[in-house]
Amino acid sequence: MVVTNQREQFATKLGFILAAVGSAVGLGNIWRFSYVAGESGGAAFLLIYVLCIFLIGLPVLLAEFSVGRRGQSDVVGSYNNIAPGKPWVIGGILGVLTSFLILSFYGVIAGWVVYYFFAYLTGQATGVGEGNYADFFVTFIGGAAAPVVWQVIFMALVLGIVFFGVKKGIELSNKIFMPLLAIILIFLAVYSLTLDGAGEGLAFLFTPDWSAFAEPGVWSSAVGQAFFTLSLGMGAMITYSSYLSREANLTTAAGSVVTLDTLFAIVAGIVIFPAVFTFANVEPDAGPGLIFIVLPEVFNQMGGAGTIFAIFFFFLVAIAALSSAISLLEVSVSYVMRQLNWNRRKATLLAGIAVTVFGIPSALSQGGPLTFEFFGLPFLDLIDTITDQYTLPLAGMIVALFVGWGWNQVDALKETGLTNSPFGVLWLWMLRIVAPIGIAWILFQNIFGA
Ligand code: PFF
Repeated sequence: MVVTNQREQFATKLGFILAAVGSAVGLGNIWRFSYVAGESGGAAFLLIYVLCIFLIGLPVLLAEFSVGRRGQSDVVGSYNNIAPGKPWVIGGILGVLTSFLILSFYGVIAGWVVYYFFAYLTGQATGVGEGNYADFFVTFIGGAAAPVVWQVIFMALVLGIVFFGVKKGIELSNKIFMPLLAIILIFLAVYSLTLDGAGEGLAFLFTPDWSAFAEPGVWSSAVGQAFFTLSLGMGAMITYSSYLSREANLTTAAGSVVTLDTLFAIVAGIVIFPAVFTFANVEPDAGPGLIFIVLPEVFNQMGGAGTIFAIFFFFLVAIAALSSAISLLEVSVSYVMRQLNWNRRKATLLAGIAVTVFGIPSALSQGGPLTFEFFGLPFLDLIDTITDQYTLPLAGMIVALFVGWGWNQVDALKETGLTNSPFGVLWLWMLRIVAPIGIAWILFQNIFGA
């Protein structure tokens, strides 16, 4: 037996589901969901987003799980193992590239979260005074050093965990911290519902303005958000499922990930929008700063208990971001390990340091010394846009087309355990027709629209 061929594996099926949920639930559900929903009109966006999650996200997630477990390798290796010498591997290469780009700015935002945690812990963020949190936030992200320092601290944690191997730490931490994050979000949601702006906030989130359905921009944001939040199109789910044993049921796993991930986002919306409509100085379309301005206003209003909530909240969001960032780094690490035949530690150092350095311009682009625009956008926003609007959908489309048309159908169905089920047929047709056409239309809009 050749020991080096022995792939690491998740200890239990639950361990895999937890890791996949840990990858999916992160800044995307709280930070990104709320600001994108806020910018895209609220309820109409939410409806379209849920539609995209079930019509495109769920089938593509199951496709990624199948490719990974069948391929038993990193994202590039998995495509090559299943379809040697075929161009499908481009999907894998795009995945490595995209996960690298996303992690570069994901580390920056997660750094902001870690900073807020410390700022509450040390009292710097308390007593800022009602209405002053926007200034507090803008001053912090516009600093010349602080955003980089906190980004590096966060990335050092990510590197440390991936360095020693993903499985052990993640299974345990997700088992404890995910439920805690859910509990604290539900508490905050209940509190938000008592605020003056609760009625308006809920109406914003749940009463659609039907005219928004005719706006391609809202659809394109919804598809981008669906991919981001489910960790699709960048090989994270392919990489994780390659560490999975044959017995686990992929369909149940995909269903659990999608359901939990969507619930987290909706509850986060119920926390944030009532607050947005309560505090006069914030608008729903305030952009990426939304949670960093609105939630501190809520915590401030809660009095002494607010500080405790804030500490728990930012701590748990940081942990959620950590498990997502780990899965992002793991994509490059497992690729480098196989491609260069390096061990895990060396591969982690190379990929981890490279991605952290590449993230520094993003950290300094939000009012800091590198606030110039490339193609009309600050660096962080540019990387976000390139991935969200182009590379993610493209890589997602390649997975869908590959499993729908390129791969032997009997094998694909066997992998999901849906061989004799009508859902299997439905799944394949979603991948063959619905997802590719939907994504192609969005890509067309993103490239040629507005
Ligand atoms: N899904 C994560 C979130 O919602 O925060 C972000 C993410 C993790 C995206 C892993 C992509 C990925 F591969």
